Amino acid sequence: MEILHVSAECYPVAKVGGLADVVGALPKYQFQAGHIAKVVMPAYNTRFFHTHEFELVHQGGCWLGHNWYHFNVWREVTNLLGFDLYMVDIPGLLDTERVYGYYNDTERFMAFQVAVLDWLNEWQHQPDVVHVHDHHTGLIPFLMTHAYKYERLRNIATVLTIHNAQYQGQFGWDRLYQLPGFDLWNAGLLGWDGAINPLAAAIKCAWRFTTVSPSYLEELYNGANGLENLLNYERGKAVGILNGIDTVVWDPATDPMLPVDYDKDTFIEGKRDIKLQLCEQFNLDPELPLISFIGRLVGEKGADLLPDIIGRSIYEQKQQVNFLLLGSGDPHVEWSLQQTRIYTEANFNVQFGYDEALSHRIYAGSDFLLMPSRVEPCGLNQMYALRYGTVPIVRSVGGLKDTVTDFGEPNGFGIRFIHAAAWDACLAVSRAVALYKDTEKLHVICKTIMQLDHSWDSAAAEYLQLYSSIVTH
Ligand code: ADP
Ligand code: GLC
Repeated sequence: MEILHVSAECYPVAKVGGLADVVGALPKYQFQAGHIAKVVMPAYNTRFFHTHEFELVHQGGCWLGHNWYHFNVWREVTNLLGFDLYMVDIPGLLDTERVYGYYNDTERFMAFQVAVLDWLNEWQHQPDVVHVHDHHTGLIPFLMTHAYKYERLRNIATVLTIHNAQYQGQFGWDRLYQLPGFDLWNAGLLGWDGAINPLAAAIKCAWRFTTVSPSYLEELYNGANGLENLLNYERGKAVGILNGIDTVVWDPATDPMLPVDYDKDTFIEGKRDIKLQLCEQFNLDPELPLISFIGRLVGEKGADLLPDIIGRSIYEQKQQVNFLLLGSGDPHVEWSLQQTRIYTEANFNVQFGYDEALSHRIYAGSDFLLMPSRVEPCGLNQMYALRYGTVPIVRSVGGLKDTVTDFGEPNGFGIRFIHAAAWDACLAVSRAVALYKDTEKLHVICKTIMQLDHSWDSAAAEYLQLYSSIVTH
């Protein structure tokens, strides 16, 4: 089978969050399973694009309303990532420093999608499945079925994966004229709640859609930022498939970003050495339990609760616990964390910004990883933590519920709490501190979690089963 993934992010080319990790791993596993898996993404102005060898495979141009954009499609020649990588270069639109956050994001991703389809329209043969990810690529299933110029693409199966329904990419109907022509009787398929909504359009038009965990799918039926009725209506097309992790990139036994390698037999010394270095770098006492947080500092991740959780826990635990944070996001949260530091300096440190290498060291050198998420479609951090022998402390929501069982339950290994509230997270922290003191039990848990299988094998097989159910030839 031949699968073309279309995405705004792909690790290690351009990463903002877990979407990149998934799109950088799933195709690799599909390739290893004997299928042809390709990824096409925008050619941002990234180091990867400038330091790797690409060949030009297509040149074209497209109108977006009155604006004409020239574009090139490049292919990475060495198959370095374990799948075919294509990058769409649109000078003046996609050659940006960042992935998102520009005034013209709507136009940037609209042009990307049209360029991908123009290119695909020229292929001699066709892929069996076009698999789109999140709202940035959500217009594609609609355009493939309804735009006049893509009539050739009408019979290719389309799958949408919803990584996060919070972001839907809405824009006004006044931009309708920028899309390639189609019968206006079908315009309703693009809309939801008074605007053009690419995520809603993809839910309506894709042959199937998936969410990145089964629990998240159930949660979306009850609340999906306004899309819940649509999701319920289309539920016959839905499947929840839990993400895996790339166990080659995320392996403490071979991770080049760690100062010391370790495995299930050597984790006590390995983790201790990395913790010592981390604590020295961040001025923390290595004897105390180290609880970390890595991620976007936004409400969805419960980041606004962190100052309170940290301040209260340090007080309640009589300063016998340390916290370390790596992340960036909401300036108010960053400011509150800086304020919290003033009175908790001996037990808490934070680094604002994005740092891939430091994140690996934190997963490895921490005792616990805290995730007080309000919403978590899947969450990869907890799976990375497990693989690195770090006990996750998670709120019972979405994919966290599907991947972490409380150590109080039979065969349990993590710490779970129910409410997205500081008091409940603080209770979970107190259980972590108690577990830390029970070294023998903690070590048994660490060894167990390092051996859990969260590789992509089973998820990749589920996706293939889904594709097979809709590819008819
Ligand atoms: P989301 O995609 O919602 O942000 P995920 O848990 O799926 O959440 O994935 C987050 C990914 O981004 C993980 O690989 C995590 O390690 C990484 N990450 C998040 N914030 C940072 C940061 N500040 N520095 C380095 N890596 C980060
Ligand atoms: C989104 C979600 C996150 C998920 C990731 C990869 O960014 O917020 O929970 O793990 O996508 O699917």
